[in-house]
Amino acid sequence: MTQQLIAWLDERLDLGAIRHFVSEKSVPVHRHSVWYYMGGITLFLVGVQVATGILLLLYYRPSAGEAYESVKFIVSQVEFGWLIRNLHSWSANLLILMAFVHLFSTLFLRSYRKPRELTWVTGVLLLFIMMGFGFSGYLLPWNELAFFATKVGTGIAGAVPFVGDFMVRFLRGGDEVTGATLTRFYGLHVAILPAMTTVVLGMHLLFIQRQGMSVPPSVEAREKAGARTPQIPFFPHYVLHDVMWWYVALAVLAALALFLPWELGTKADAFAPVPAGISLPMMTFSFSPRMKSERPWMAASVSTRVVSWNDAADSHESVASDALVMPMSSGRPSAGFLAAVTSSRLVSRKV
Ligand code: HEM
Repeated sequence: MTQQLIAWLDERLDLGAIRHFVSEKSVPVHRHSVWYYMGGITLFLVGVQVATGILLLLYYRPSAGEAYESVKFIVSQVEFGWLIRNLHSWSANLLILMAFVHLFSTLFLRSYRKPRELTWVTGVLLLFIMMGFGFSGYLLPWNELAFFATKVGTGIAGAVPFVGDFMVRFLRGGDEVTGATLTRFYGLHVAILPAMTTVVLGMHLLFIQRQGMSVPPSVEAREKAGARTPQIPFFPHYVLHDVMWWYVALAVLAALALFLPWELGTKADAFAPVPAGISLPMMTFSFSPRMKSERPWMAASVSTRVVSWNDAADSHESVASDALVMPMSSGRPSAGFLAAVTSSRLVSRKV
């Protein structure tokens, strides 16, 4: 039956090129090749997000009056709704984590080098898009924590010189976080970001298929000295390895979704005073370009902070811990690559 279907399609579409690609493509094997599977795990989690997101859409209602109740309905009344929401929320976090693991593995293996600069650049764009998904999705249940996190998060845009005020109003759909903000974030989350992901992820995967997998400089040096790097066929060997890693990711995800349910909290009330003792974990990430040819293109700065409110002064204080991760040029693939500077400080800012 399958053979007949393939023959039927082949007659009409000439599948020779695809057959050739699948049978000829191979992937190098060396002591760092385990890192090749990190992008695949990230891709798998994108798939989980799409599938569970579509299911959540069947019941979610994007308005300040109904959003919280609709999520409550999903987790308490809809059959397996709690599981789908837990999977979506945990998978979102694992996805960002895996995108970072993938970023750092490609950084340390120096896969960003010519001719893969565009793969790296589309990867960075994907990371920003994924963080946009996280930020916009966080507000959708319209609970207290999400409301104040969005207030702080959108407020940060106000610090941008000249256009800060405009950006805050653009993001919030007004001066304050209201139902208009929810509508905007919903549009971003289910239409704009998915469309951007389709295009940018499509380019990322296309570039990888065109260029094949890179090998790290140590393996490259051995190849130049005449050694042959062993290869495995892409299909079925590499694909089966990929699927095995997907099983591992699925097991971790299922355990988290089953044993650590994602809290819904209390409904947001835009007019209520800030609840005492509320504190928000936040993570910011920034890049600065480094264009020297022998160096990676971006230096990354990761900062985690816990924000807590000072009710009386209507301000929030945050304890920040910053890590500047700066790739530096070095002859060796891993050693001497990383300079991490951590610091802790207390920042106070008006909301
Ligand atoms: C949604 C996010 C992402 C997905 C789904 C994704 C997916 C993939 C996949 C499936 C591969 C091939 C297997 C592998 O090398 O792991 C890959 C390769 C690659 N990715 Fe990503 N990626 C993402 C984000 C990123 C980020 C954030 C970066 C870096 C800034 C990046 C840079 C690269 C590079 C340079 C390669 C080529 C590796 C090589 O040739 O050895 N990707 N990506």
